[in-house]
Amino acid sequence: MNKMPGEGFLKTKDVMKPEMIGKEVMLRGWVYRKRHIGAKIFIVLRDSEGIIQCLVVKNEVDEKTWEEAEKITRESSFMVKGIVREDPRAPGGYELKVTWLRIVGLSDVFPIRGGEGIDYLLDKRHLWIRSRKLTAIMKIKHSVLKAAREYLVRNGWWEVTPPIITASACEGGATLFEMKYFDRKAYLSQSAQLYLEALIFSLEKVWSLTPSFRAEKSRTRRHLAEYWHLELEGAWYHMEDMMKVSEELVSYIVKRVLEERSEELEFLKRDKVMLERALEIPYPRIKYDEAIEILQRKGFRIEWGEDLGADEERALTEEFETPFFITHFPKQIKAFYMKLDPQRPDVVLGFDMLAPEGYGEIIGGSEREDSYEKLLQRIHELGLDPKEYEWYLDLRRYGSVPHSGFGLGVERLVMWISGIDHIRDTIPFPRFRERVYP
Ligand code: 4AD
Ligand code: MG
Repeated sequence: MNKMPGEGFLKTKDVMKPEMIGKEVMLRGWVYRKRHIGAKIFIVLRDSEGIIQCLVVKNEVDEKTWEEAEKITRESSFMVKGIVREDPRAPGGYELKVTWLRIVGLSDVFPIRGGEGIDYLLDKRHLWIRSRKLTAIMKIKHSVLKAAREYLVRNGWWEVTPPIITASACEGGATLFEMKYFDRKAYLSQSAQLYLEALIFSLEKVWSLTPSFRAEKSRTRRHLAEYWHLELEGAWYHMEDMMKVSEELVSYIVKRVLEERSEELEFLKRDKVMLERALEIPYPRIKYDEAIEILQRKGFRIEWGEDLGADEERALTEEFETPFFITHFPKQIKAFYMKLDPQRPDVVLGFDMLAPEGYGEIIGGSEREDSYEKLLQRIHELGLDPKEYEWYLDLRRYGSVPHSGFGLGVERLVMWISGIDHIRDTIPFPRFRERVYP
C-alpha cells in the first residue's frame, strides 16, 4: 500500500489492538470531542479509520502540549504522540496516554453541535460530511461500487464511457433536464442505455457507471435529481437471461459488503439477517398482473394499467423477505424501447427488481425491441419524434440482434443495504429540486 506522506504516523485502527498496548505511537486527525476536567483533558481523535480517546494529564506533559490541549477546539486538526493503553471506559476499549500534542489547524467554533434540523445540515453539508454516519455510508458505497466492478470484470463485461450530454430522451420528457448547448438545445442524460445499445454490436457485453439526471418534480425519500447509474447491456440476452445477471450482481454486492463493511453496518445498526437473506438466488418473480391482485387484496384502489407508486411498492415488499422481480408491465406505463411480449402484446418484456423492507425499485430493465418496424411503430404511437431516434433506429437496420439490459440506481441500492430512511445520505452532495448548494 502507498504510505501517506509524513513519517511514523499510524491510523486509529492500527493502534487499537492488544499487541500495541504499552507502545508509543503517533497519530493525526481531527478533534471529534473534547472534555476538560480539572487537570485532565480528554480529546477524542477521529481519522479515516475511526476514533480513539487521548488523555492529556497536566503534570505529565510538557507545558506546550498542555497549552495546546487547552486551546484546541472541536474539529481542529492535530498531531499527537502517546502510549496505547487498554481502557474499557473509552470508546473502542483503548486510550492514548498523551506525551506530546500539536495543533495543525485550529478550528473556529464548529457550526454543527448536534440536534440541528435537516435543512440546516444540508446547508452545512460540506462540514456535515465529516459525520461518522455519512462516513460509514460512503465506505459502504465504496464497497458496493468495488464489488460491482469485480463482478463485471470477472464475468467478461466491458466497461465503456457513454456521454452525459445527449440529444434525445431515453426515459420520457417529463423528467428531462434541458440545457443550453452552444446555440442549440441538449439534455442531460437520464440513462446511458441507448448508447450502450450501440456498443453491443462490437463488444457484446457492456456496462457503464455514469451520473443520470432526472428532473423529479416532487421531493421524495428515494428520488435524486442527480444519481449514479450502473447500466448493463448484452447482445443475445433475452429478458430472463438479463434478470439472472441482475440478481447475481446484487447478491454478489451484498456478499462483499457483508464481508468488508461489517463494522459500518453495525455502526448504522443494520439488521444483517435481512441482507444475508439476499445472498441466495434466484429471487422470487411475480408478474405485474399478480402485483395488482395482491394490491387489490390489500385494499389498494388500483386498476390494471396503472403505474405502481412508492406506496404500492412498499405494500408489495411486505410479501417478500428478499429482493424480488415484477415483470410484464402494461406497455403504456413503460418506455418506448421495451420489447412487447409476443404472446401478449399489451405487456412488455420488462422487469423491475424491488428491495424488501419497504425500499422498492432498485433496478429497471427489459428486453429491447429489435425490429426496425415495430420500434418505429412504438415511437409513432407514443408521439415521439422519429428524427430524434434515427440513429437509434439504425441499430435495427444493420445486423439487429436480440438484446436486453438494465439500470441499477446505486444510491437506491446503498440506501437499502445501509438500512437508512432517506436517499440523501447515500450521496455526499445530494441534488433535489429545491437546492444545488453546497
Ligand atoms: O427504471 P429506470 O428509469 O430505467 C432506465 O433508466 C433504463 N434506461 C435503464 C436501463 O435499462 N439501462 O432507472 C433505472 C434505475 C431505477 O430502478 C432506480 O433504481 C434508479 O435508476 N433511479 C433513480 N435513483 C435515484 N433518483 C432518481 N430520481 C432515480 N430514477 C431512477
Ligand atoms: Mg423504473
